[in-house]
Amino acid sequence: MTTDTDVAGHYTSGDLLKRLQQSLLGDGIDPDCPTLQSLAPYDHFHGRGLEATQELAESLAVSPSDHVLDIGCGIGGPARYFADRFGCHATGIDLTDEFCSVARHLTRALNLEDRVRFEQGDALNMPFDDETFNGAYSMNVSMNIADKDAFYREIYRVLRPGAWLALSEIAQGPGTQVAYPTPWALTADSSFLATPENTRERLLANGFEISHFRDATRDALEFGSRTRSLVEQGEKPPHRAVNLIHGGLAAEVSANVAEGIKESRLVPVEIICSKAP
Ligand SMILES: C[S@@+](CC[C@H](N)C(=O)[O-])C[C@H]1O[C@@H](n2cnc3c(N)ncnc32)[C@H](O)[C@@H]1O
Repeated sequence: MTTDTDVAGHYTSGDLLKRLQQSLLGDGIDPDCPTLQSLAPYDHFHGRGLEATQELAESLAVSPSDHVLDIGCGIGGPARYFADRFGCHATGIDLTDEFCSVARHLTRALNLEDRVRFEQGDALNMPFDDETFNGAYSMNVSMNIADKDAFYREIYRVLRPGAWLALSEIAQGPGTQVAYPTPWALTADSSFLATPENTRERLLANGFEISHFRDATRDALEFGSRTRSLVEQGEKPPHRAVNLIHGGLAAEVSANVAEGIKESRLVPVEIICSKAP
């Protein structure tokens, strides 16, 4: 049985900020004066990185008066992106304490702390009142969560009536067994993949209305081949979060995900749903 400590332990290195600062220096960026753009290769820790965050944001109607929730926010790139793009307030919650502290550090450096804040906590028991948020999103998080009903029920609780929920997840495909380690789990014992059908079912069972449910396999494969061409031309890959977070394990976890998607063992899905008005 995976515990919260196991999940946080999987993502914790103890020297993440130092390694991020070194990476920025390597890019010719002063780590004390980063921009949203200079952080983007590192702080969107999900498939297709910034590109996927941008697409998700453009598919939603968010206004400056909105307060949005980022569930499993990592080091906060998507939350800062939403606040900058829409002028809204964003709150991120994440189990991994080190991620929350790096997220706060970067948010201060970008002068966004009046609109973006981070709480360390469990998505299954969030420290927020009922009906707090106008919208919520969660990117590449549910693979760490065994109890999907508890996850969707808790999100439903903190959303206002009529609020949207956007999910970008990796689902279990029809192909053969998934190879581990992956970016979210070292072994199958700590990985909780649902099929697309089961995800749809559990969302509906917990009260959500689904307006959009998309298999994003083609986009993931196309992003992978674009990245390989850039690297062959001697450029840095556009998405370097896995390298930052997983260090020496990055090549292996990335290869396992790429193969898994190619062979339909893993299926990236993008979902937009809402709580009834
Ligand atoms: C692959 S990372 C994605 C981070 C972020 N969503 C992003 O796209 O940049 C998965 C994140 O989910 C967080 N997480 C996993 N289980 C969680 C839970 N039960 N409650 C809160 N956060 C959780 C992890 O700590 C980790 O930061």
